[in-house]
Amino acid sequence: PIVVNPAIKTASISPNMWGVFFEDINMGADGGIYAEMIKNRSFEFQKPLMGWKLDNKPFREGAITVQNRQQANTNNPRFIRVQATDVAGSVLSMTNEGFRGMAVKKDLRYDFSCLYQHADNQTDIRMQLELIDTLGKTLGGAIIQPAVSAGKWSKFTASFTATATNAKAKFRITFTGRGSIDLDMISLFPEDTWKKRPGGMRADMIQLLADMKPGFIRFPGGCIVEGFDLNNRYQWKKTIGPIEERQLIMNRWNVEFAHRPAPDYFQTFGLGFFEYFQLAEDIGAKPLPILNCGMACQFNSAELVPMDQLDPYIQDALDLVEFANGDTNTVWGKKRAAMGHAAPFNLTMIGIGNENWGPQYVERLQAFTKAIRSKYPGIQIIASSGTDPLGERFDFLNQSLRAMQVDFVDEHYYRKPDWFLSNASRYDAYTRNGSKVFAGEYAAHSDSKQTAEKRNNWQAALSEAAFLTGLERNADVVQMASYAPLFAHVEGWQWNPDLIWVNNQQVIGSASYQVQKLYALNKGTHAVAISRNGAVMAGKDSLYASAVVDANTQELLIKIANVSATTQTLPIDIAGVKMQGKVVQQTLLQHPDLMAANSFDQPDNIVPVQTAVLCKSKTFTYEAKPYSFVLLRIALK
Ligand code: AHR
Repeated sequence: PIVVNPAIKTASISPNMWGVFFEDINMGADGGIYAEMIKNRSFEFQKPLMGWKLDNKPFREGAITVQNRQQANTNNPRFIRVQATDVAGSVLSMTNEGFRGMAVKKDLRYDFSCLYQHADNQTDIRMQLELIDTLGKTLGGAIIQPAVSAGKWSKFTASFTATATNAKAKFRITFTGRGSIDLDMISLFPEDTWKKRPGGMRADMIQLLADMKPGFIRFPGGCIVEGFDLNNRYQWKKTIGPIEERQLIMNRWNVEFAHRPAPDYFQTFGLGFFEYFQLAEDIGAKPLPILNCGMACQFNSAELVPMDQLDPYIQDALDLVEFANGDTNTVWGKKRAAMGHAAPFNLTMIGIGNENWGPQYVERLQAFTKAIRSKYPGIQIIASSGTDPLGERFDFLNQSLRAMQVDFVDEHYYRKPDWFLSNASRYDAYTRNGSKVFAGEYAAHSDSKQTAEKRNNWQAALSEAAFLTGLERNADVVQMASYAPLFAHVEGWQWNPDLIWVNNQQVIGSASYQVQKLYALNKGTHAVAISRNGAVMAGKDSLYASAVVDANTQELLIKIANVSATTQTLPIDIAGVKMQGKVVQQTLLQHPDLMAANSFDQPDNIVPVQTAVLCKSKTFTYEAKPYSFVLLRIALK
C-alpha cells in the first residue's frame, strides 16, 4: 500500500511556493496585461507611423507630419503635427489598429487622453474620436475641441461609451476645422482595468494570477533583462515616473525567428517597475526583480561591460532596494512615494543576471554580491544557472555559485515530458546545505504538432505534475518554483508552450495552469513522509506522489499522478488517522487523451473536478484513473 505518515515532517514548505514568472514575451505586457489599446501612442517605434494609417483626401502635402524635437526631449522626441484646412469634402484622419485589433465591449466606458499643443491661438480644430469596426462603422465616440494651448503642451482627456461589442475594432481620429494641433501620447484605455486603475492592467488576465495566490512574482524576464545588446537591456530606472518620460525600446522578442513575427514589438514601459511592485502587492506575492549583471543575451551579442565599468550596474541594484524599501527621506524612496506609494514594497530578494553562465558571469556576480551584502545584508541574492545537456558547464557554475553562498541558484529546464518524468527524483540526493534551488523557468515541451495553444497539452501538464511531486518532496532544497513563460497572445507569440493563452477578448488557463494552481492553492506547511512498498514514489509503476500537511487547517494533502494508460487501485494507509467514516475530498485533473488541451473553443476541457468520498474501512482505496493527477484532502482531526 501507499503509506503516509503525517507525523513525520520531512521539510517545511517555503511560503514562497509556488510563484509566477512574468516576462514581456508573446505580447505579455504591451498588447497583453498592459491595457493600453493604442499601438505606438508616442510615435517612437522604429517606423514612426507603425500601427497608424493616415487618410488625407484629396492628398495635401504636409497635412499630417511627424515632428522630431530631438535634443529638446530625448526620451520622447517625436510627435505628430496636424494642419487642417476644412476644405469642403476633404478628409483628414488617422486610424490606429491596436494590438492585433482592439476588443470593444458594448456599454463599457473608454478613456481617451493625449498631450497636445496648438501652433497659435488662431484655431478652431476639432477631433472626432471613434472606435470603428473593420468597415469603418462607428462603435461609439466623442467630438472634442481641446482648449487653445498655444506653444505649451497640455493634457486632454475625454470618455465615451461603446455602443456595440467588437473583437477587431480600430480607433479613428478625424480632424475638422482650421488650424494646427500637435499630438503625442495618444491613449485609450477601457474602464474595466484591474482594480479600475486608470491606465492600468487587463483585469481578466491579472485575475488568473490572483486566483493562483502566487508566493512570488519574478519580473521583468527572461531574456529582456539581458537585451540583444547592452543598450537594449532592461533598465528599471527608465521605467518609472511620468509615462511620457519613459523611453521605449525595441523588445528583445522582436525577433526574426518568431513563429508569429512581431516587427512592431516594443516595450513602451507604461508598465514599469513601480507597476510590477504594485501588482505583486495586489496579488499577495513577494516581488522578485531580476537585474542585468553587465552581460547581454548570450544568444545574441553576448556583449560584456568591462569590470572597471560595472559600477553603474551595481548602483542600479542598490538603488532598486532603496526604491522598494527606503523611507520617504531617501532619494529613491521619495520617488516611490511621489508615484503614490509611501509605504515600502518589502523587497526581500533580488536576482542578478538571467541565463548568464560563463566565468564572466561569476566574476560580475561576485562584485554585485559584495556590494549588496555589504549595504543590504538582509536581501537574498538569486544567481542564474541552468540544466541543459552541457551538464559539466553547469556543474562548474553551480560549484562557483555555491562557493559564493548565493541564497538561490536559479535553474531553468525546458525539456520533453519524458525528462520531467525521469527527473522527479532529481533533488532526492541533492546537497542539502548551502544555496537553495529556485526552479525559475520550466515547462514540458511535447513533440506535438498541434496549434500553439494546444501544445500545452495534457501530456506536458501531467509530466509537470509528476515532476513537481519531486519538488514538493524536497521542499527543503527547492524553495521557489515558477513555470515559464506565463502569457501568450494567440496572434503574437514567439515561444510556446505558455501557461496562459489570450486573445483580445478571452483568457484561458492551460492544463499546465491548472496543475500550477492546484499546487499553489494546496501547498501546505510541511512535507511529510509518503512511500509505496517502502520506496519513494518517483515513477515506479508510472506513479508519482507527495504529501504535505497544513498546520493551519489541520489537513493532510496527498498528490498522486498516474501517468499510465490503465487504472491503478491504490490502498492508502494513513498512520495515526482513523479513516473509517472520514470524507476524502478529491480534486481530479484527468483526460484519457494525452493530446487534449484547453483552447479558445474548449477552455474547460481540462479543469479540476471535485468529489467527496466516504471512507468505509480503515484503509482508504483510491482508484487512480489513467493519465490522472489528483489531490486528496483529509482532515487530520
Ligand atoms: O521563457 C522564455 C525564455 O527562456 C526566457 O526569456 C529566457 O530566460 C529563457 O531562455
